[in-house]
Parts: sequence; C-alpha cells; structure tokens
Amino acid sequence: MNFIPYGKQCIEQNDIDTVVQTLKSDFLTTGPKVKEFEDALSSYCGAKYCVTVSNGTAALHLASLALLNKDDKVLTTPNSFLATSNSILYVQAIPIFVDIAKDGNIDLALCEEELKKDSSIKAIYAVAFSGNIVNQEKLKYLKETYNIKILEDNAHAIGAEYDGIKAGSCTNSDCSIFSFHPVKHITTAEGGAITTNSKEIYEKILMLRGHGMVKTADMKPWEYEMQDLGYNYRITDMQCALGISQLKKLPDFVKRRFEIAKQYDNAFENTIVKPLYTFDGKSSYHLYVVQVNFTLLSISKKDLFHRLREKNMGIQLHYMPINKQPYYKTLGYGDEDIPNMDKYYEECFSLPMYPLLNNDEQEYVIKSLFEVLK
Ligand SMILES: Cc1ncc(COP(=O)(O)O)c(C=O)c1O
Repeated sequence: MNFIPYGKQCIEQNDIDTVVQTLKSDFLTTGPKVKEFEDALSSYCGAKYCVTVSNGTAALHLASLALLNKDDKVLTTPNSFLATSNSILYVQAIPIFVDIAKDGNIDLALCEEELKKDSSIKAIYAVAFSGNIVNQEKLKYLKETYNIKILEDNAHAIGAEYDGIKAGSCTNSDCSIFSFHPVKHITTAEGGAITTNSKEIYEKILMLRGHGMVKTADMKPWEYEMQDLGYNYRITDMQCALGISQLKKLPDFVKRRFEIAKQYDNAFENTIVKPLYTFDGKSSYHLYVVQVNFTLLSISKKDLFHRLREKNMGIQLHYMPINKQPYYKTLGYGDEDIPNMDKYYEECFSLPMYPLLNNDEQEYVIKSLFEVLK
C-alpha cells in the first residue's frame, strides 16, 4: 500500500489548465482573478464582503487588527493550530484559553462563565474544529448579551452548514477566516480569506493587506497615501485561478468526505474506537477524529503512531494544547484547568480523510487500526 496521509489535495487537469492560462495572461498578481475569487467566495458563503490573502495566518492577523485593541482579553480554544491564538498576540491582545466541549470545539457555556466573571473581556475567537461549525444559537446569544466581538476561525470548515447557516456567512460573527493550505477542503497552495458583513471591517482589512495604502479618484495619477501600518499579504492571480476552479468542486469534495465519515462511523460502531462526533450533516469533515481510551489497552498512543507509520499510514494529532507550548509558558500560560482538553490530548487522533481516499485505502486504514489496537 502506498503511503496514506491524513489529508491531501485533489488537483485535476482543469485546475492545472486554469493556472497555466493565468500564467500566460497579463496579470500574475493583483489582477482580475483576485476579485473574481473573492466574489465567488462571498457569494458561496453568503457574506457581503471577502478579502483574499496570502495564507490563513495573514487572514487571522488582519482580522485581529480590525477587531481588537492592545490589551483586549479574548476567549479562545487551546485545541487549534497555533495561528489562532498567535494572531491575538500579534496585536498585543491577551488570549484566555477556555476548555473544550465533547465535540472538540470551545465550550461556549464556559465562555459565558468567564464573561459573567469579567466584563472587560472583549471577544471570542471560536474555531470550527475539524469542520464542525460552532453552535450558532449560543454564539448569537453571547454576542448580543455581552456585546462582544466574535471571530470564527473556519480554516477547517468551508463547505459546512449549520441549520442553513453556512461557514463564512458571518451570520453571528464579525469576521470569519479560511485557509487554503493543501490539506484543507480547497487549496491555492498557500492562501486564505476573510469574510465579513461589515463595510468598515472590509475596508480596513483591504487597506492593511496592501501596506495601509489608499488611492482615491481625486488624487493625482501617481499619488497614494499610507494611512496605517499595513503589510504585503497579497495572494497571486495564479493562486486565485486555482481557488476559483477548486471552489466549483467544493460540494463534490464535501459529499465525498461525508461518505468517508459515514463509512468510518459504521466501522467503529460499538467498538473501542469512538468517533469524536458521528455524522449529523453539520461538519464538513476537514478531519475525522477518533478517541481511544489507552488506559484499557496494552499499546500506548506513541506506539500506535509508530506501528501505523510502519504500515504506511499517516495518522496525526490535532492538536497539542496551545497553552502548553514553550513560548506560551514564557508568557505565564500552561497551568489552566482544562480537563477536557487534557483528556482529548491523551485519547484523540485524526484518521486519513480526503476526497481521493478510495474505498480500498479506507478499508486498509480501518483494518490496520484494529489490528494494531488488538
Ligand atoms: C484552525 C486553523 N487556523 C488557522 C490556520 C492557519 O492557516 P495557514 O496555514 O493557511 O496560515 C490553520 C492552518 O492549519 C488552522 O488549522
């Protein structure tokens, strides 16, 4: 069996053709494909505005510049890629790590306890972990009751829908971000986007993407004005051409991920391998995470990883608790009381999940997992 990673892109000939066409066009960057991709994304998600950027981390950075001020306290999850809370630090604001719920997402009931205790908390950064959109009723309630800003990190969740609310629609949030890294649902190699329904946020992010520069109709032809300290977080036209082509395939990609998830759910029913959550249509399954109680078994999690690597399977752990990273420890983090995250870290791991994973490969994954766990 060839190596089976936990995630992988799906690039077809028509994706390649569209990139080549753009390479032969007049614009390699800052051309028509950028706006076309932004319009396609905002119309897909149902958000008014979209800004594409060079990666998901840049999207988080710009969103944080638009939403936060220095020293703002922000509730966030320890169960994410580093970039989520790093973006809070980039703007000298203060992440506060809140424990996760059983589905791996930030526990919004605990967020409310924190908000009740401390009225100076300004925002929640909620990650739709593994593709599972954060509870929208609770998000709406918290936003309205406590008058806080909400950012949805939907890096895992493009294509997900929660009772008619699409990831990235910003129905109950100020901003949402996506990443188009190759392991995500759709890819532009590196790439990211911010969606919002606020004109003010949109204009600020657009300006900050390009060095904080503005040009207006009344200026002389050569003039531009730098109004803020911005960055070069631009994405290229080649990448956006690929993004446009990939976005058209997103419904099929998600459909295939659903099939794989259901097959895993069936295989693990009434076994020692417990899916983090079973299929209910609300997750677009960037990851398929399972939980195993290793204290009941003779194999450790480390050995399981090694043994499956020997069988050419790349399972992965998403994520190590961010608050326990050495850098975060230097800032005084690491001793938070987050028992669900600790248990998650002990017991969970992600299985291969991507549209090109075929049935034989999935069967091999399931068979190998049970063999090794025995
Ligand atoms: C939840 C989450 N947020 C943000 C990012 C950052 O995205 P990028 O790698 O495109 O910078 C990632 C990437 O893995 C992610 O998983």
